[in-house]
Amino acid sequence: MKSTLSSVDARAFIRAISCAATPVTIVTTLAHDLRWGQTVSAVSRVSDEPAVLGVCINRRSPINAAIRHSADFNVSLLGPGHHGTADTFAGRRQAGREPFTFDDTQWGPGRNGLPVYTDSVASFECGLLSVTDVGSHHLYLGEVRHVAHTDAEPLLHLRGSYRTLSAHHMEGQHA
Ligand SMILES: Cc1cc2nc3c(=O)[nH]c(=O)nc-3n(C[C@H](O)[C@H](O)[C@H](O)COP(=O)(O)O)c2cc1C
Repeated sequence: MKSTLSSVDARAFIRAISCAATPVTIVTTLAHDLRWGQTVSAVSRVSDEPAVLGVCINRRSPINAAIRHSADFNVSLLGPGHHGTADTFAGRRQAGREPFTFDDTQWGPGRNGLPVYTDSVASFECGLLSVTDVGSHHLYLGEVRHVAHTDAEPLLHLRGSYRTLSAHHMEGQHA
């Protein structure tokens, strides 16, 4: 992608954008009968009608080829107790758990057959609408075909750390 703006140092950009709390999700797909998953916080509501999610994944990640092949992907929104799963699908080695491995006690198939985290706070099953190359990342737009949600609190990522919401709610509600 051609840059038309004066460029900002990537580390400065990451430090600044990390001041915005983001959800912690696992993006999954299925290709050649193999399950793929990656921890992704760059997930956004793009359209309500039709329901469309946007997901940004680093172009070096092996899941990219699998998503393109499958043309479907799921997004499982994690809760505070699930940071170990977030680490596993970010490639971090932990005692007794290989990176990027699906624990069948925690994962099941969604309606589309792709993996969904059983205890997820919310889940979104998507059909791939488009892929756009944007610098270091690919931007996927997915038409949401099935959703599920609970009242559980989400796990957040802020300034490089996992966080949870405080018990206090601000005044006012927004859709
Ligand atoms: C909380 C968290 C959020 C992340 N968000 C993204 C993201 O939005 N997009 C992305 O491409 N990688 C994201 N990553 C990094 C990838 O999960 C990680 O680089 C990827 O799984 C590949 O691992 P590797 O670099 O060890 O091969 C995130 C990691 C963590 C821990």
